[in-house]
Formats: sequence, C-alpha cells, structure tokens
Amino acid sequence: MLVLTALLAALLGDLAVVAQDSDYGSSPPVYPSPQTQGIGWEAAFARAEAFVANLTLEEKAQLVTGTSGPCVGNIGAIPRLGFDGLCLQDGPLAIRQATYASVFPAGLTAAASWDKSLMYLRGLYMGAEFKGKGSHIALGPVVGPLGRTAYGGRNWEGFSPDPYLTGVAVGETITGMQQGGVQACLKHYIGNEQETQRNPSLSPDNVTIESFSANIDDRTMHELYLWPFANGVKAGVSSIMCSYNRLNGSYACQNSKSQNGLLKEELGFQGYIMSDWGGTRSGLASINAGLDMTMPGMHFFFSGDSTASLFGGNITTAVNNGSLSETRVDDMILRILTPYFFLQQDEYPPIDGEEPTLNSRFPPYKYQFNLGASNVDVRDGHGQLIRDLGSAGTVLLKNVDNTLPLKAPTSIGVFGNDAGDVVDGLYSLGGAFGNSDGYEYGTLAVAGGSGTGRLSYLVSPLEAIKTRAAQDGTLVQYVLNNTLLSQPSTLAGVLPVPQVCLVFLKTWASEGADRAGLEADWNSTAVVTSVASYCNNTVVVTHSAGINVLPWADHPNVTAILAAHLPGQESGNSIVDILYGVVNPSGKLPYTIAHNESDYDFAPLLNSTALLETEDPNAWQWNFTEGLLIDYRHFDYENQSVAFEFGFGLSYTTFSMSGIAVQQQGASGAGGGGGPYSSNNNTTVIGATPPPPPSPGKVPPGGNPALWETLYTVTVTVTNTGGVAGAAVPQLYVSLPQVPDAEGHPTPVNVLRGFEKVLLQPGESQTVEFDLARRDLSYWDTNTQQWTIPEGSIGLNAGFSSRDFRQRTQVNVVSGW
Ligand SMILES: *[C@@H]1O[C@H](CO)[C@@H](O)[C@H](O)[C@H]1NC(C)=O
Ligand SMILES: *[C@@H]1O[C@H](CO)[C@@H](O)[C@H](O)[C@H]1NC(C)=O
Ligand SMILES: *[C@@H]1O[C@H](CO)[C@@H](O)[C@H](O)[C@H]1NC(C)=O
Ligand SMILES: *[C@@H]1O[C@H](CO)[C@@H](O)[C@H](O)[C@H]1NC(C)=O
Ligand SMILES: *[C@@H]1O[C@H](CO)[C@@H](O)[C@H](O)[C@H]1NC(C)=O
Ligand SMILES: *[C@@H]1O[C@H](CO)[C@@H](O)[C@H](O)[C@H]1NC(C)=O
Ligand SMILES: *[C@@H]1O[C@H](CO)[C@@H](O)[C@H](O)[C@H]1NC(C)=O
Ligand SMILES: *[C@@H]1O[C@H](CO)[C@@H](O)[C@H](O)[C@H]1NC(C)=O
Ligand SMILES: *[C@@H]1O[C@H](CO)[C@@H](O)[C@H](O)[C@H]1NC(C)=O
Ligand SMILES: *[C@@H]1O[C@H](CO)[C@@H](O)[C@H](O)[C@H]1NC(C)=O
Ligand SMILES: *[C@@H]1O[C@H](CO)[C@@H](O)[C@H](O)[C@H]1NC(C)=O
Ligand SMILES: *[C@@H]1O[C@H](CO)[C@@H](O)[C@H](O)[C@H]1NC(C)=O
Repeated sequence: MLVLTALLAALLGDLAVVAQDSDYGSSPPVYPSPQTQGIGWEAAFARAEAFVANLTLEEKAQLVTGTSGPCVGNIGAIPRLGFDGLCLQDGPLAIRQATYASVFPAGLTAAASWDKSLMYLRGLYMGAEFKGKGSHIALGPVVGPLGRTAYGGRNWEGFSPDPYLTGVAVGETITGMQQGGVQACLKHYIGNEQETQRNPSLSPDNVTIESFSANIDDRTMHELYLWPFANGVKAGVSSIMCSYNRLNGSYACQNSKSQNGLLKEELGFQGYIMSDWGGTRSGLASINAGLDMTMPGMHFFFSGDSTASLFGGNITTAVNNGSLSETRVDDMILRILTPYFFLQQDEYPPIDGEEPTLNSRFPPYKYQFNLGASNVDVRDGHGQLIRDLGSAGTVLLKNVDNTLPLKAPTSIGVFGNDAGDVVDGLYSLGGAFGNSDGYEYGTLAVAGGSGTGRLSYLVSPLEAIKTRAAQDGTLVQYVLNNTLLSQPSTLAGVLPVPQVCLVFLKTWASEGADRAGLEADWNSTAVVTSVASYCNNTVVVTHSAGINVLPWADHPNVTAILAAHLPGQESGNSIVDILYGVVNPSGKLPYTIAHNESDYDFAPLLNSTALLETEDPNAWQWNFTEGLLIDYRHFDYENQSVAFEFGFGLSYTTFSMSGIAVQQQGASGAGGGGGPYSSNNNTTVIGATPPPPPSPGKVPPGGNPALWETLYTVTVTVTNTGGVAGAAVPQLYVSLPQVPDAEGHPTPVNVLRGFEKVLLQPGESQTVEFDLARRDLSYWDTNTQQWTIPEGSIGLNAGFSSRDFRQRTQVNVVSGW
C-alpha cells in the first residue's frame, strides 16, 4: 500500500490529475454512478437507509473520508448515533501488524493447494482473527495483480495467473472471511500488474511523470483481469480497492468505465470502492466516477496539514454549492454501511489496545475509537490448518526412484540460508519496498510489504527436521551460509556424505519492487550445483514468492524438487510432513515453469532507461498486446515446450481417469427466446447469447444470473492405482473455437474450467463432477457486449494437468431459437 513513491508523490502537492488520453485506448465516460439497491443485503440496506436519514452533511463527509486513528485505515465514530467508526487493517494473509495473531499461507500457496475447502477455511479463520482484533475491514484478498508478468512483486499476494483458479480461490476466501465476521476488501482494481511506476514520480526537472497506464482491450479485460473480480462480487464482497495505476490513460480510482460501468453496472456490485492509500487523485471527478471512500483520507499524509483531504470538507462545500449531488453522497454511505449492518458490525469487539502503538504515524486522533484490552490472542488453534495448507500447497516436481518420502535415513544434510530460523526478527517487512533479496538468513515463510504478517512464532525447516530426525536417530548436519556453499570445497567438511541432502532456497518479493530475475535468490544455482556435485541424492525445496526457473532441474544428482511457496508460520512442520510422507503431496502448479527466463518475454515488465529518464508525463504506456495469452495460454498457443506445466504436480501414488460423460442441465436460457435446449445425438442447439441481464439497478452481485447457470455437467471417474492413499486433482479444460476478435487476439487453446481435489485410498475410485456455467463456455463478444457461446465444436478435456489430458469429449454447438 504505502510506499516511498507514494510518500514522494504525497509531498509533491496537488496530484489531482485530469484523465489523459492514452495512445492506445481511452476510457469511455460512464455516468452517473449507479446507485446501490442493497441486492442480497435487503434488511441491512433498510437499516443503512434509516441511518443515513439521521446524518448531517458533515457526518456524511466524515463517513467517506479516512482519518487518523489506531488502524491502518480509520473512519471516525459518530457517538450520538452509536456508531463506533471503522477500523481497516492489512492484509491478505494475516492481520499484518497484530500481535498474537496467525500468519497464514500466502494466496499463492492457497492456489497451489487446489483445495476449495482449505481455501474456505483459511478465509474463515482469517476473518475470525480480524474480528477478534476489532478490525471491521480486512484489506484482502488480492486478485490484481493477476500475474501477467512473472516478475510482478506482488503476484504472491494473489493466487494464480489463471483467472478461473483465482476466481474460485477468491470466492472461497471471501465467503470464509465474511462468515468469520469481517468485511473483505478485494484489491487492486485493476491492471496493477507491476510495481514499477505504479505511482507518479518526479523527473529530474521536477515534471510529474504519471503512473503507468495499463492499456487493456475489452475482451482481455473481461476474460482475464475482470473475471476473478466477478467471482468476488458474486461471493458478496463488501468492498473493492481501486489501484494506483492508470487504466487506458485514466487513473483507476477515477475511471468511470471500470468503476461505474464494469463494476457497478455490469457486475452489479452493491458495496463500496475505496482508494488504495494515496491512490485518490481528485475529489469530485473520482466521486462521480464511482469512488466511494478515500484512504487514508488525508491528501498530504505523513506531513503537512493532516486534515486536508480531497474528500472531507470538499464534499460539504461541493454539495452546498450544487456541484455534487447529495444523492451520490448518500449512495456512497449506503454502500459503506449496508455490508456493515449485514455483518452485524454494530455489535463488534473493540479494537485491540495494542494497535495504536503499531499504527502511530497519524496521531493526534480527531475522533474517539473504541479500544479494548491489549494483545488479545486470536490464534485459536489455527496453526493446524496453517500446517495442513502449507503441505497442501507444496508441489512435488521431480522424484526420481522414489527418493521421497524419506525412509529413516541414517544421515541428512540440510543446506542453504532458507533452512534455518530467521535472524532479523519476526516481522518480515525487512528488505521490503525495494530490496529484491530480502533478508539473507532465515526461512522465507511470507514475503514483504503491506501483504506480510508479524509472526507470533515460526517453525523453521531445520528445527522441524531435527525434531523429526531424532525419532530415527538420524544424523543431521547443516551449512546455512550460501556464500560458503557456492564453493564446493566447503562440503568436504560435511562427513559422512549424507544419504540425502536437502537444499532450501528462497525467492523474496515485495510490494513496491518488482523482481529482478526468476532464479531463486542468493546464488541459488551455484549452491545447488555445489551440493549436487558432492551429494548424489540432492532434494531441492524452494520457498518462493512466485515463479522460479530451475536451471538445475535436470541435474542427475538432483533427485527430487519441491516448490513449497510461502507456507506461513508452520513452514517447517508443513515440509517435514511432506518429506516423511505423513502427507502425500497433492499441490499442483498454479503457473507454468518455463525452461528459461527469456521464455517469459511475452509479458515483460515496463521498465527502461528511457522511461526512467523521461520528461513526458504520459510516457509510461503498457499495452497488453498479448491479449488472452498469458502463462499456459501463451505456451500452449505457441506449442512451446516448458519445464513444468500449469496444473502439474506429482504424488507418492498414481491415478488413472476413465469414463468421461457429459450431461446437459437446465431448461432455460436459450438465446432471446428462452426456449429449451435440445440435444439429439451429441449436437446441442443452444442460444448463442444469454437472456438479457436484469434492467439497470436490478443486476444482482456477479452480473447477469444466466451466466452462472450450469449448462453441462461433465463427469469422470478417478482411481488411485498406486500403493498409498493420496489426493488427486482432476482438472477440466475447455477448448473453444477461434472467434472474430476486434484486436486480432487469438482464443487460447485450452482454458481451465473445473477442478476438484479428491482423497482416494489405494484402489479406490470416485466419480467427480464439473459443473460448466454459461460463462465457462463463452467468450466476451465486444460487438454485442455479451458473453457468447461460440458456434462449433467445444472440446472438453479432462486430465491431471494442462498438458496431461486423459479423457476427451466435445459438445457441438449450433445456435438456434
Ligand atoms: C500502444 O498501442 C498503441 C495503439 O496500437 C500504439 O499507437 C502505441 O505506439 C503503443 N505503445 C507502445 C508503448 O507500444
Ligand atoms: C480500453 O480501451 C480499449 C480500446 O483499446 C477498449 O476496448 C476498452 O473497453 C477500454 N477499457 C476501459 C476500461 O476503458
Ligand atoms: C435517528 O435519530 C433518532 C433521533 O435521534 C433516533 O430515535 C433514531 O433511533 C435514529 N435512527 C437511527 C437509525 O440511528
Ligand atoms: C526540484 O525540486 C526540488 C525541491 O523543490 C529542488 O530542490 C530542485 O532544485 C528542483 N530541481 C529542478 C531541476 O528544478
Ligand atoms: C480540498 O482539497 C484540497 C486539495 O487537496 C485541499 O488542499 C483542501 O484542504 C481541501 N479542503 C478541505 C476543506 O478539506
Ligand atoms: C558467510 O561466509 C562468507 C564467506 O566465508 C563470510 O564472508 C560471511 O561472513 C559468512 N556469513 C556469516 C553470517 O557468517
Ligand atoms: C528498472 O530499470 C532500471 C534501469 O535499467 C534498473 O536499475 C532496475 O533494476 C529495473 N527494475 C526492475 C524491477 O527490473
Ligand atoms: C551471492 O548473492 C549475493 C546476493 O544475491 C550477491 O551479492 C553476491 O555477489 C553473490 N556471490 C557470489 C559468489 O555469487
Ligand atoms: C554426482 O554425485 C557424485 C557423488 O556421489 C559425484 O561424483 C558426481 O560428480 C556428481 N555428478 C555431478 C554431475 O555433479
Ligand atoms: C551415491 O552416493 C553414496 C554416498 O556417497 C554412494 O554410496 C553411492 O554409491 C552413490 N550412488 C551412485 C549411484 O553414485
Ligand atoms: C445430430 O443431430 C442434429 C440435430 O438433430 C442433426 O442435424 C445431425 O445431423 C445429427 N448428427 C449425427 C452425426 O447424427
Ligand atoms: C459427437 O459427434 C461428433 C460428430 O459430430 C463425433 O465426432 C464425436 O465422436 C461424437 N462424440 C460422442 C461422445 O459421441
């Protein structure tokens, strides 16, 4: 959220930047801002309406304007109406600064688990912890960045560059969080696909150089970047945070097309849009373009007049002089207070008394906050789920001759600076905001920036391995200094040569800085090569904030590889459970590992010497020219070999798949006419376009309900053909025919449209169902502005990864009616 560039920008003075035409697209105006009807939240909406009726204009302005207070973001109390204010806290995997709270696995790890119930539980427990600390709003989850570029510094805060997997993950997360009692804030909306120049900067001649502009065509917007936001809105998310960057030349927090048009009109979003911290670049222009709350409220935060805001008093003035309609202000408040009443936050625990000391940059406070006891312990046994999810999100990439699981080895070597305990403290902001290497010594359980968490404890891999190895009397030797390890002579002192050598690597990333490379940090390749030259049974484990290329993956002495992502506080226990086979690995890659770093050049960062030295305020233009072809969609379309494909992951057992069948569901929804589907032989007559959405103002959260109706159910049978119990992840990919595209963008060869995780005993079979909704079989038709099922043959491919299809069928669509 808040970083040096924002600080710099804030110090510059007035950032109210008028939307600029870009050289790629521009954003069409969509006004006025749609009014919420509280759809799905009717009783709470009625309470909010009654509450608004009692507010003075000054109180209304106060409710939409952040202020100083004990939390990362604060809305002031109105004691005369029994309103205690709102406490907003980071972030997506923990209540960031809090004491006695849990640090959960990152979104990336949740995605790698492909386990919907663990995703849900993670959300539920996080929600309960935020509530226990008196925080009304959790600033997460993240689906922007989606992960267009592998170098993105915040990709790990979100889930996967696949919008379907991310969409399912975020739906489960939000449902869990809000059932836990906290309002989720889905962020960052939209196009925030890199950190570099996400905020304006000053040129050497003091010209304000605007944030980069993500220039995204309409189809790509719908099928990739907006897709998971639709899942979030459908799940009933309370709030959405607009991002720092520009979109088609216009700042995201004042882009009327994306906020009024896409989010509030098309997706029927009933909650509120808040700014990223300092992301509000104008007052009235932003409000009319759909922004409902400004954070942290002060325009000149950190310095100057801490009460000055682009909102606040300016709203009162604007309403009084007629330049802003009070109806719009009321709508902002209804959007903010409806989820508040829906989650019964008028009866809520007080804010942890410790928090003012953790958020001390804004005092003195103008408003009273409801503080309770300090250091309330909200962890409530969540460590077990954290341990389970850490294991479930670990992907076994290589396992030669059943190297793993370990079978009571007589001696183990543990190597690498990621194996041991941290030495720089338990709050791993260390190295955040610019240092791509993070801290040198200590395991990486969580990465940096506002998406980090203060650890209340950390189980390191070395600690957990020592504990477990003692049960077998195994000798454990270790060297943790990567500089030493990259010199092979170092290993001569490790005697005897261990039966198995475990190398722990890490890859730091953080908000505020994109990654400089894709290999693991700290001379990782030299370390692996060095250990493997001495130890012919080398197992490499990565703790990584994103994609790593693995130049040593084919080394003959590297016998096993585990991508353990960012597991959270139980890191060591999670990996030991996998290493010793207490847990059979079932994680799958939520991204593609290519052979070489250059294979990711199809979506490079926008960063060049020319841009860094530019005097052109509008120079940072980022055209998303690859359209839909990111990650596996790119590699599949180019028919390019990769190291480990999307959806891949080994197990200690084996699975087979058989008996694909398709069943047509539902009888409504044929195009326009609303007649029934007909299915003779396997040719389906189906409406190309869905029934029209409800009229404006009546669109429920998620958009046109017809898009979410199941049209087909595909079933396959999965069997455990190996010797131990394990969980399989059958996956369904849909292959749509090519369709006319205004920008000439190809349709991807295959897109994920279903997955399940099933635990099977040896020999056991289970039938798995994948429900295909209308959206899953459609492309976004830019002419009709509708999701449309293309005519022709739609392939349905079921298997165990994006390149391991075991069963195929198709439906043949002819439009009719
Ligand atoms: C972006 O796209 C526009 C329209 O195609 C083009 O004129 C412009 O040169 C592109 N900008 C960059 C930086 O590639
Ligand atoms: C951005 O511009 C493209 C045209 O290049 C257009 O298709 C798209 O709808 C625009 N999106 C927004 C949010 O303005
Ligand atoms: C509005 O104010 C009146 C008078 O102060 C009070 O009786 C009523 O409960 C208030 N309603 C709400 C929703 O706060
Ligand atoms: C830019 O602004 C800074 C701070 O006001 C000032 O010290 C510096 O001289 C300015 N540079 C130029 C080239 O005007
Ligand atoms: C209105 O916004 C301007 C620009 O940030 C700010 O300087 C001014 O103090 C604001 N007025 C009030 C009353 O908050
Ligand atoms: C790691 O080894 C290098 C090379 O011997 C040495 O310079 C460095 O001080 C060592 N680091 C620590 C923390 O001991
Ligand atoms: C951006 O480019 C500059 C200059 O080439 C370089 O120093 C910097 O490391 C780059 N940043 C990233 C994240 O690649
Ligand atoms: C090891 O890595 C660090 C940081 O990544 C770097 O500064 C150093 O030069 C590297 N040392 C060697 C021997 O490659
Ligand atoms: C593999 O390990 C053995 C030691 O067991 C070593 O002699 C050999 O050189 C190693 N191979 C490579 C390619 O490093
Ligand atoms: C691997 O290394 C061990 C211990 O050094 C040795 O006993 C064994 O023969 C080696 N195996 C191979 C295939 O080289
Ligand atoms: C399948 O049914 C459709 C519609 O009734 C018909 O047009 C088509 O010829 C049939 N195809 C086959 C292979 O029987
Ligand atoms: C469906 O029909 C096509 C021809 O229209 C045929 O090639 C295909 O095998 C049929 N599939 C099934 C599952 O019957």
